[in-house]
Order: sequence, then structure tokens, then C-alpha cells
Amino acid sequence: MQKTFVMIKPDGVERGLVGPIISRIEAKGFKLVGLKMLRMSEEMAGRHYAEHRDKPFFQELIDFITASPVVAMAWEGDGVVEGVRRLMGSTNPLEAEPGTIRGDYGIYISKNVIHGSDSPTSAERELQLFFRPEEILNYSRSLDQWLF
Ligand code: RTP
Ligand code: MG
Repeated sequence: MQKTFVMIKPDGVERGLVGPIISRIEAKGFKLVGLKMLRMSEEMAGRHYAEHRDKPFFQELIDFITASPVVAMAWEGDGVVEGVRRLMGSTNPLEAEPGTIRGDYGIYISKNVIHGSDSPTSAERELQLFFRPEEILNYSRSLDQWLF
């Protein structure tokens, strides 16, 4: 079954949006299979956002993501990578549709509340960066017959 990496960013944690964000992904039907809270180091942030190293906003992004704790999660389900990206909405919250997480909870591109892997390949890389293999759980829910 496909998995993705999702992270509630420091603005989401400090604003008390951990519960509402998790609720939306749970309500959709995806399965939570890993969860931890941590403060990212500069080194870890640099690895997570390596693709953006040469962008003008890179240092701002690193300062932001390391400023306060994040909630890191692994989610599972058919189409979960694309499914979570759709629940999140566009990168720029002002352009994100109302009803999406960023559309409902954000204003600035630099404070957009949530991260989700952009492809199955990124998901694999990012999950490995945040979780040891045994920290991602394999279990079945009795309601899976109605969802999967
Ligand atoms: P993310 O990786 O955080 O889930 O966001 P994303 O895929 O929607 O967007 P991406 O292009 O990967 O950009 C990563 C993060 O960098 C910040 N950003 N700032 N100032 C800017 O023009 C700019 N562009 C991107 C955003 O916080 C974005 O989430
Ligand atoms: Mg991205």
C-alpha cells in the first residue's frame, strides 16, 4: 500500500492546528502509520529541503522549519501521496482553494502550515529521513473493508 510523509510545520503546531489537520486526513480515510514530534536540526532541514538549496528563499525556509517543533507523520492508503497533496492545497495559501488545509488556515507561502511529499519517490526518501523502519507500523483496522 502507498505511503506518504506529512509534516505539520512550526506555524501549524504553535497555532494549535495539529488536531484539526490530523482530523481532516483521518476523515478522508487514510491510515496513520507513524507519528512523532521533534525539533528539526539545521542539518536535517538542509537534507529534507535539499532540492531547494539554490533557491533565494532557502535560508528563510530553514530558519522557519527549525524555529519550533514539527509533527512528522507517515500515512498510508491507495493514492495517498496525491490525496494528501489535494487536501493540502496549493503551495501559496492565498491561491489554495477554500476547503483545503492551506486554503483555510494560511496566508503566506513562507508559513503554509503543512508539508506533504510530492511523489512516491520523495515519500520514500523523506520517510527514511524521519523514521526508522520499526517506527512505521503495519496494522489493519476493522473499518478498512469500508475504506480500502
Ligand atoms: P512543501 O515541500 O513544504 O510541502 O511545499 P510544496 O511542495 O507545496 O512547495 P515546494 O516548491 O516544495 O517549496 C517548499 C517550501 O518552500 C517555501 N517556498 N517559499 N518564497 C517563495 O517563493 C517560496 N517558494 C516556496 C514554501 O514554504 C514551500 O512550502
Ligand atoms: Mg515540496
